Amino acid sequence: MNQSPKEVAGRRAAEFVTDGMTLGLGTGSTVYFTLLALSERIRAGHLRVRGVPTSLDTERKALELGIPLATLDEVESLDLCIDGADEIDGDFAMVKGGGGALLREKVVASIARRVVIVVGPEKVVPRLGTTFALPVEVAPFARPVVRRALAKLGCEPKLRTTRDGATYLTDNHNEILDCRFASGIADVPALERAIDAIPGVVESGLFVGLAHALVIGHPDGRAEVRQR
Ligand code: A5P
Repeated sequence: MNQSPKEVAGRRAAEFVTDGMTLGLGTGSTVYFTLLALSERIRAGHLRVRGVPTSLDTERKALELGIPLATLDEVESLDLCIDGADEIDGDFAMVKGGGGALLREKVVASIARRVVIVVGPEKVVPRLGTTFALPVEVAPFARPVVRRALAKLGCEPKLRTTRDGATYLTDNHNEILDCRFASGIADVPALERAIDAIPGVVESGLFVGLAHALVIGHPDGRAEVRQR
């Protein structure tokens, strides 16, 4: 019987969580299964953890599931962060931010001793930017300037909107430009530096050198674990 690759990956990653850990709780439909698995162990009295959520959505889900939360004021570092991705390449560089949580996700991952990424097989790509537009979070005031500067880097930036056509706003009240690269991203670190240097950019969805391990869920129920 076919299983959900997201559920396979999300639940397998939860097995890396041990008693007493402080966690980064990622965002998205794959990590949701990690939250479910953690919640089951917490409710059974087998696990005590605290988690820093990477979005308001994850915060709400964690609270509903009875996962104790902590803020960045309360924790200086994290034992483990588990998060999803929109694309990940052979060097574990990633495109993230499809759910709009890129800024908080990057901040939380940056203080984690170990970052585990959970995906289905379709997210693993030979070259970033080929299946997904790169999200860039921008301060609304700076958007026209940032949009022109991003276009000069060889992409087509498109303002993210909600289903009813309103401008999409992140949890941090910023906007997102989704940048489509016709042939994908040739030099990921160089592009990351170039985007970060544009005044008005709050964060890019390129995550380089942050992930330590990758859990790929397969429809046959197998969870493949790759280490960097
Ligand atoms: C959130 O902004 C993203 O970075 C997510 O981590 C990513 O979109 C995960 O997607 P799934 O819902 O497919 O797990």
